Amino acid sequence: MSAPRIREFRRVVFFTGAGMSAESGIPTYRGAGGIWKEYDWEEYACQRAFQRDPEKVWDFHDVRRKTVAAAEPNAGHRVVAEVERAQPDTWVLTQNIDGLHRRAGTKNLVELHGSLWRVRCDREGKVTEDLSVPIASRRCACGAYLRPDIVWFEDALNRASLAAAERALEGCDLLVSVGTSGVVYPAAQLPVIAMKRGAVTVEVNPEDTPVSELYQHRLRGPASAILASLWEV
Ligand code: OAD
Repeated sequence: MSAPRIREFRRVVFFTGAGMSAESGIPTYRGAGGIWKEYDWEEYACQRAFQRDPEKVWDFHDVRRKTVAAAEPNAGHRVVAEVERAQPDTWVLTQNIDGLHRRAGTKNLVELHGSLWRVRCDREGKVTEDLSVPIASRRCACGAYLRPDIVWFEDALNRASLAAAERALEGCDLLVSVGTSGVVYPAAQLPVIAMKRGAVTVEVNPEDTPVSELYQHRLRGPASAILASLWEV
């Protein structure tokens, strides 16, 4: 079965994970060099950890801010943005918190796991953008700690984001998953909506994943090269 050409579809959805940003030098979560190999998420990426030791959790997120601030969108992010410019019904549903899709020019974007570049008052829930590195203040004006506006382990996904993702998937005719291991639910379950609606499905990843079997086309290689080939042919 030859790989589909993106240009032949009207409503394309990209579902992206950490592998999308790997070529920008941002480590993935699992596998060799993965963040959760070096850091125990129970100490750095859940509300319980934050309540126990907010300064330690912030130190970890400040390191992540620094890494991401020094990174640039890669050729893969740029192809995804170009597809949207040419085909305005395109959507990007990302599990990434790095903001690189937006920096590459993507506008129709759902950040399912929130953003490293937003903070939320842990008492009042107010969300604000903060691009400072390290974070200018770890506390809100009200005196409570700010926390990154990220969906940590054990947090629920934001309902509005989930609804926006479902809307995009229901209307899509081509689903391209890029650089995700597909193991984190409920986000990883989302592509199934498009599959049930009869969309053509493509998985882009250098390796097989636990969900590879779900996809009609499994393209093995780095995101930038494979996306370029799906777009240019
Ligand atoms: P993972 O780290 O679980 O998976 C990254 C995937 O990217 C793997 O399947 C790699 O094979 C693949 N990969 C590596 N390099 C690549 C490249 N150059 N091009 C394409 N693919 C490549 O990351 P996610 O699936 O995004 O959540 O993880 C999902 C969620 O788990 C994250 O959003 C994060 C994490 O815990 C939270 O922090 C709540």
